[in-house]
Amino acid sequence: MAIPSLKGKRVLVTGASSGIGFETALAFARQGANLILVDINAPALEMAANAVREHGVNCLTWKADVSDAQAMRELANAVHEAVGALDVLINNAGIAFLGAFLETPEQAWRRILDINVMGVVHGCNVFLPQMLNADGPRHIVNVASVAGLAPAYQMSVYAASKHAVVGLSESLAMELSVSSVGMSVVCPGIINTPIANPGTASVGKSVTHAQLQRLAAFYQSKGAHPRLVGESIVDAVQTGKGIVLVGPIARLVYNLRRISRSLLMKAMLAESKKIWV
Ligand SMILES: NC(=O)c1ccc[n+]([C@@H]2O[C@H](COP(=O)([O-])OP(=O)(O)OC[C@H]3O[C@@H](n4cnc5c(N)ncnc54)[C@H](O)[C@@H]3O)[C@@H](O)[C@H]2O)c1
Repeated sequence: MAIPSLKGKRVLVTGASSGIGFETALAFARQGANLILVDINAPALEMAANAVREHGVNCLTWKADVSDAQAMRELANAVHEAVGALDVLINNAGIAFLGAFLETPEQAWRRILDINVMGVVHGCNVFLPQMLNADGPRHIVNVASVAGLAPAYQMSVYAASKHAVVGLSESLAMELSVSSVGMSVVCPGIINTPIANPGTASVGKSVTHAQLQRLAAFYQSKGAHPRLVGESIVDAVQTGKGIVLVGPIARLVYNLRRISRSLLMKAMLAESKKIWV
């Protein structure tokens, strides 16, 4: 449900230490919202919180792994005790694995699905009941990807996880349509964050240093600033937008998919080969 004024609202962002999560927290802080920042990286979380507080808003931090159901229950208990029901929940934390399907170990499948999919499930499970019981409009934002709408070369587990986030979000949105809790799913295109950097993403054994360098250069030169995603998420919450397409290629992919899925696959493959071959 749309929340036109965000001043004083309680907004929780997962994966808030870096990239899209950090810029989303700043975008809400600029609107006067109070933030709860959650991340697995505690030192970076404190730096992010200091930047948010410079906007004159309250900011709490909590170290948690979104894939851990018990840790998420403890987070929700602490948040509800400290500030009450959330106005806005942003399930953003996510990671990538780069490499061919046959070089994606079962352990990588489990870790990525646990964070990218179950992290969203846990966030909704632990915060939604209080949001439904509270008065006034509330909103959930799940950060998927353009890889939730289209195939992603050498990223089968990532694409599977993001297709799941889109499906989960649109299905839950139908259930929530009779409530005062709105739902947005965000599908960013290429955004210049560390997500695909060596050291952040796990990689398959045949992925070469040169390929990783080309990928990093591609994200740096073609990627939009994550602030664009943060501002788009604020706009989606203020207007109640269901699907949010943001950054390079997102709208193109969305429209091409409606016209021809085989054409979309050919176009994605041709672009990907510039990096991977
Ligand atoms: N960068 C892109 O091009 C792009 C495009 C589409 C979608 N996305 C999605 O945007 C979201 C944010 O990615 P980003 O690009 O800002 O990446 P990022 O690496 O800059 O930030 C991800 C953040 O999530 C945190 N995190 C990782 N695992 C966690 C866990 N288990 N529990 C809690 N926090 C955890 C990290 O510490 C980090 O702060 C992800 O869901 C990603 O899939 C990114």
